[in-house]
Amino acid sequence: MTAGARGPLANRYTDLVGIRHPVVQEGMGPFSTTHLAAAVSNAGGLGTVSVPGTTGDLHEAAAVLRRSVEECATLTGAPFAVNIPVGHDREGGIAAFARIYLDAVLEARRADAGLAAQLRVLTTSAGFPAGLTERVHDEGMIHQHKVGSTRHALKAARAGVDVVLAAGFEMGGHAPTSGMHTFVLTPNIAEAVDVPVVLTGGVRDGRGLAAALCLGADAVALGTRFAATSDNPDWHPGYRAALVAAGEGDDVVVDGVFGPCRTLRNVESDAMRATVAAGGTVRSATKIESMRRAQIEGDAEHGLVLMGQVASGITDVVSVAEFLPAMIDEAAAVLRARQPLPAAVEV
Ligand SMILES: Cc1cc2nc3c(=O)[nH]c(=O)nc-3n(C[C@H](O)[C@H](O)[C@H](O)COP(=O)(O)O)c2cc1C
Repeated sequence: MTAGARGPLANRYTDLVGIRHPVVQEGMGPFSTTHLAAAVSNAGGLGTVSVPGTTGDLHEAAAVLRRSVEECATLTGAPFAVNIPVGHDREGGIAAFARIYLDAVLEARRADAGLAAQLRVLTTSAGFPAGLTERVHDEGMIHQHKVGSTRHALKAARAGVDVVLAAGFEMGGHAPTSGMHTFVLTPNIAEAVDVPVVLTGGVRDGRGLAAALCLGADAVALGTRFAATSDNPDWHPGYRAALVAAGEGDDVVVDGVFGPCRTLRNVESDAMRATVAAGGTVRSATKIESMRRAQIEGDAEHGLVLMGQVASGITDVVSVAEFLPAMIDEAAAVLRARQPLPAAVEV
């Protein structure tokens, strides 16, 4: 099918994953991205299903995740991914909550060979437990891991991951504590590891994709730009409107559970920052409830509107089917138009 044919920017990453274009819609838990993931995969990129956050029963949340991957497979015939933020337990193994999510995904694949053929990529973030990659490989999946430093990229590569995501501090959601930005981090990581590198953070069009490829990345993974699309029906229109309205300086970083979290500056994030500044902590459940207020109710003042700095350059809500091919065309045009320099000019 068209989604699987090689596109003009096909490379070792697109060939590995089996997609047409080097563009990923990255996970955006605890928000549902099932329809969005299918739209991106249908357009030749790699869509990603996200974990639902929960303040209640983890097994129920895992059942929701399983239904999401099953639904995604009914909406697209192309490959897609699932993102699970993992963590360590005290012994360095996979944290209990992540194991429950992972088991649900693996069971869905074992139960349906067609789904297994499509859901071929697991993206992890927020920790790198020992033994995880072997387990993912044993299940026949590709393992991508998101890192914020070259040290962590090397650790993941040594453990056998297939792809490293270089995550810059400008990204939406939980940003790396290292605070490294993509422009510095991506070439550092691309020089350090042999596996494909996917830049994530700050990309919104073909210029960003072309720049990422020049920095040594093999692909880009977008969050905020894809959140502001008409193919994201699971999010309240008020969320998309807040992304489009945001300008430079409208984002802040809230410290607390799971490290720094980049979000819109509003009543809610100001209150959370005040709590942290006063020596308090923001409970995980509080954060998840707050994110739901933004996503489900569209309350962009009293809910956490996770977004990257790139929101400052997003001025419209677009459709994935139009946006993604245009992004590829723009990147290809930028790369083709790079002016060849005269060979023998003294500088
Ligand atoms: C609303 C939102 C939720 C996110 N949730 C997750 C998540 O659950 N797991 C994860 O690894 N990254 C998460 N991220 C980060 C994205 O996967 C991606 O790396 C990031 O959005 C890229 O930066 P950009 O927003 O500038 O495109 C989230 C980002 C946003 C905007």
